[in-house]
Amino acid sequence: MTSPSPTRFLTGITTTGTPHLGNFVGSIRPSVQASFRDDVRSFYFLADYHALIKCDEPARIQQSTLEIAASWLAAGLDPERVTFYRQSDIPEIPELTWLLTCVTGKGVLNRAHAYKAAVDKNEAAGNDPDADVTAGLFMYPVLMGADILLFKTHKVPVGRDQAQHLEMARDMAQRYNHLYGEHLVLPEAVIEDSVALLPGLDGRKMSKSYDNTIPLFTPREQMRKLIAGIVTDSRAPGEPKEAEGSALFQIYQAFASAEETEALRKAYAEGIAWGDAKQMLFERIDREIAPMRERYHALMADPGRIEAILQAGARKARAEATPFMAELRRAVGLRKLDSLPAAAGKAKAAKSATPAFKQYREKDGLFYFKLQDADARLLLQSRGFESPREAALAIAALQKDGLEALPGQAQALPGVTEDELTAVLRFFAD
Ligand code: TRP
Repeated sequence: MTSPSPTRFLTGITTTGTPHLGNFVGSIRPSVQASFRDDVRSFYFLADYHALIKCDEPARIQQSTLEIAASWLAAGLDPERVTFYRQSDIPEIPELTWLLTCVTGKGVLNRAHAYKAAVDKNEAAGNDPDADVTAGLFMYPVLMGADILLFKTHKVPVGRDQAQHLEMARDMAQRYNHLYGEHLVLPEAVIEDSVALLPGLDGRKMSKSYDNTIPLFTPREQMRKLIAGIVTDSRAPGEPKEAEGSALFQIYQAFASAEETEALRKAYAEGIAWGDAKQMLFERIDREIAPMRERYHALMADPGRIEAILQAGARKARAEATPFMAELRRAVGLRKLDSLPAAAGKAKAAKSATPAFKQYREKDGLFYFKLQDADARLLLQSRGFESPREAALAIAALQKDGLEALPGQAQALPGVTEDELTAVLRFFAD
């Protein structure tokens, strides 16, 4: 038995803002931790094509790309362990976007939450339903589907608001596979309800749209000032205070150990002054952030180094994306013409113009494939596989490695020579 191939996790971060403590607790920290697991292969990317959908300020996109990349690296992301890249460095992503566009129902996109919300807002205001709605916003889910499907992703950790996009990506993959054969992996959302939403300065969810954030790498004294501004009630020093519902307490909890949290709960009950509680919170956060802050500023001072890291990440990503995209293009019929048999002029036109693998299920419940040549002559018959995925993997191996991948997986039919097989299989290789 070979060891099971690692589960592929993928996450994109839209490059429109400056990372804040909420992003750190909800996304950066858990992702960096997950990237150290040996049974996981992680893909993290800067979704700058997505950023264009909501931001038309070039300088801000560039600055945000720099800040987000520096934040992830400062927080401990190891670009040797993971694949860390910028979306716009991977031309296969917009290429796949088009193939997926052609298998996505327009009606499905009409129902996407973000687009629908924009339309509803226009209608409520008595405007044209599509006023100020770009086709980019409409196509957002397809671009996201391409991000995910290009890297054969199994799991996508997302907030609940993104669950619909994952459903759509699955639909696109299913439709594509149904039409063109099993090529795309169906991804699953990992909805992280357990990751508590961090409250912001005003007690609502920390979010740039509420202007209540604490930037992750703001200078130390600035962080102290911001923390001093977290809303509290008007209870005086000595009066017992409620831990439940206290934004200050919840933020503390996101950084502290269980014992530390209990100690603060006790201090609340004993009437700690708000000023002292804020000082405790500041010190606790600073203890975790200070070493990262130093790395962050060193990285920010050296954008060339970050660029080099992203370029290396793009090479690593494209080493997989380029051959896979070639396979996907071929599957839909975007093919070189010289792979066609020279018999094009013959009277008896070939039924299937190109060689093809056909997958099917037998009454025994197992999954099989066969290979036929351009004249629909049967060349290969596979063994039975437990799942369509295993059958697809065997097909992929044959397409890539030719006859070497044959033993134990499929058998040539009587009268079919090795040379013939090699020639037909070469059609599928690059
Ligand atoms: N839509 C995601 C967000 O707003 C960002 C994103 C783009 C993404 N492509 C992705 C997330 C692919 C996960 C997978 O947060």
